[in-house]
This record gives sequence, structure tokens and C-alpha cells, in this order.
Amino acid sequence: MKMFQIVLLLFNLVSAICCYKPLILLHGIMTGFESMELIKNRIEEKHPGTIIYNIERFGGWSSLENMNYQVQQLSHDFNNFTRMHPEGIHLLGYSQGALLARTILQANSNHTVHTFISLSGPQAGQYGTQFLHLFFPGVALETAYELFYSRVGQHTSVGNYWNDPYHEKLFIEYSQYLPYVNNELPTNNSQQFKEALTKLKKMVLIGGPDDNVITPWESSQFGYYDSNGTVINLMERDIFINDRIGLKTLYQKKKLKIVSVPGVNHFDWHLNTSIVDNYILPYLD
Ligand SMILES: *[C@@H]1O[C@H](CO)[C@@H](O)[C@H](O)[C@H]1NC(C)=O
Ligand SMILES: *[C@@H]1O[C@H](CO)[C@@H](O)[C@H](O)[C@H]1NC(C)=O
Ligand SMILES: *[C@@H]1O[C@H](CO)[C@@H](O)[C@H](O)[C@H]1NC(C)=O
Ligand SMILES: *[C@@H]1O[C@H](CO)[C@@H](O)[C@H](O)[C@H]1NC(C)=O
Ligand SMILES: *[C@@H]1O[C@H](CO)[C@@H](O)[C@H](O)[C@H]1NC(C)=O
Repeated sequence: MKMFQIVLLLFNLVSAICCYKPLILLHGIMTGFESMELIKNRIEEKHPGTIIYNIERFGGWSSLENMNYQVQQLSHDFNNFTRMHPEGIHLLGYSQGALLARTILQANSNHTVHTFISLSGPQAGQYGTQFLHLFFPGVALETAYELFYSRVGQHTSVGNYWNDPYHEKLFIEYSQYLPYVNNELPTNNSQQFKEALTKLKKMVLIGGPDDNVITPWESSQFGYYDSNGTVINLMERDIFINDRIGLKTLYQKKKLKIVSVPGVNHFDWHLNTSIVDNYILPYLD
């Protein structure tokens, strides 16, 4: 073997074993860490040596607990991981876990996350029958706000990001979570939330028109209904135009990737090897 071949071989070996940044995975609602095993296994196969922390807490029914409580509790795990990796780490959340992951970042602006990947998460909220009936089969879409926009309704995660476009006043009044984490209602934490996101090297928002659970599906990319029920894309919404949480800053620095993939049902995003290969692995270094 020639010298340069040996050097190349060594280089490949070293980069295969040592140099991918670790990754934190956060599962979706009503499932647990097991549901993220396909993603974990595929990344370990394609990027050998990647350390993966697959968060176990708040699996099953406990995933319905209040979002602020979950953020507070999961921050312990998150800080533990980021503290161990000052050189950088990546974060990927699926479904509700994508919204949780984003707001865990915001709550811990000293994080060391480089890339955050949101895999079909209701980042701008949720207003749809199919989603509603997964958990509350007897409740009608039009009247669900009566349940969720109350003290009791806010005990559930679903209530915390239920965003009824026809009852925005009540949403702002009662929701303890979404208007705050999206800086619709300014607080002492608003600036910190923005700083935490703008220090990312990359934010990747993955979603698609055949999701059938995230409603509107554009919520996975911060699009949402206006008060007439018309879907407005991220870039025409206040959260972007006025750079409430730093999305515009990220976009202008070419750090915001908006990825739309047709043909994927909500319950398949995390079980589809081709999604990992085409839309996740390219963002992990
Ligand atoms: C932090 O992470 C390490 C390694 O995974 C683990 O051994 C330890 O128990 C964790 N500590 C807390 C407080 O979660
Ligand atoms: C960030 O701050 C929290 C709370 O003060 C702390 O527990 C954590 O270790 C810090 N994280 C890093 C990466 O320094
Ligand atoms: C927000 O900050 C102001 C000024 O520092 C302080 O007076 C106020 O108590 C804070 N509000 C909350 C809810 O912490
Ligand atoms: C709602 O629809 C009416 C009538 O088409 C229009 O004048 C108004 O601008 C719309 N409002 C929003 C928020 O899109
Ligand atoms: C898997 O993902 C690809 C896109 O990478 C998509 O075309 C295909 O329909 C998906 N398959 C399923 C079963 O969701």
C-alpha cells in the first residue's frame, strides 16, 4: 500500500469513529423512546460512532402532561447532555417532541446545540379533527376550545398548543404555553428565547402535505391559519416578519431549512428509512 493510501484509510477510519457530533432524540406523543429506534439505528449504521441519547421520559400517557412541566423536567436531561458536549451536539424531535425540543432549547439558552431538526412538529399549534379524535374522540372540533381554554384543559399538553383560529382571544387568555414560547405575548424570557434559537447553526423544519395529523400541516414549518381559516405561510406571518423568535435572522443567515416532503403520513415520518437518509443525515455532521 502506498503511503497516501494508508493516510486516506486512517483518515476515513478516524472520521468514521470519532467525529460525528452526538445527537439527542425526543419521541412524540403517546409513544416512547422505542418509537425512535429506527432513526437511531439508521444513523448509527450510516454515521458509525455517533453517540445518541434517546430520551425515555414522558413516554405513553405521561406525554399528555402539561408542556411547561415537561420542558422543565426534560431540561435536566438536556442540560446533562449538552454539558457533556461543549464541542456541540444535535437535537431532533418528532411530532409533539419537536415542539418540546424547540422550547427546551429556548428555556436553556446556554445550550451547545448546532443543528435542531423538527420532524413534523406542531410548531405553530394544532387545530384539526383527526388529531383531536386521537385523544378526545367525543369532542367536536368547533367546541374543543371550551374544553382546552380553561384551567383544567391546560393540564394537558394538547390543550397547551391547541390553537383555535376562531377563538384567538381565548387562546391568548388561557393558553399557558404556545403564545409565550412563540413570543406572541412578550415576557421577561422573550429575548432569551430568541437568543437561544438564533445561536443555532441550523434549524431544519420538516413537514408535508400528506401528514393528515398536524393541521394545518404547514404548522410543522410555522405556517398557520389566519382568523378566517386561511393558511398563511411562515414568511407572511407576524412571527417571521417581526422576527419574534429569531426565524427571520436564521433565514437571512441561510441557517433555516424548510423541507416539504409529500407522500408521508404523520405516523410514518420516524419509521421511514428514506426520510432519515434524504432529510436527516445530510444535516448531521
Ligand atoms: C447524566 O448523564 C449521565 C450519562 O448518561 C448519567 O450517568 C447521569 O445519571 C445523568 N445525570 C442526570 C442528573 O440525569
Ligand atoms: C446551562 O445552565 C443550566 C442551568 O443553570 C446548567 O444546569 C447547565 O449545565 C448549563 N449548560 C451548559 C451547557 O453549560
Ligand atoms: C420582569 O422583569 C421586571 C424588571 O426586572 C421585574 O420587575 C418583574 O418582576 C419581572 N416579571 C416576572 C414575571 O418575573
Ligand atoms: C377575512 O375575510 C374578509 C372577507 O373576505 C377579508 O376582508 C379579511 O381581510 C380577512 N381577514 C383576514 C385576517 O384574512
Ligand atoms: C418514505 O419517504 C419517502 C420520501 O423520502 C416517500 O416518498 C415515501 O412515500 C415514504 N413512505 C412511506 C411509507 O411513508
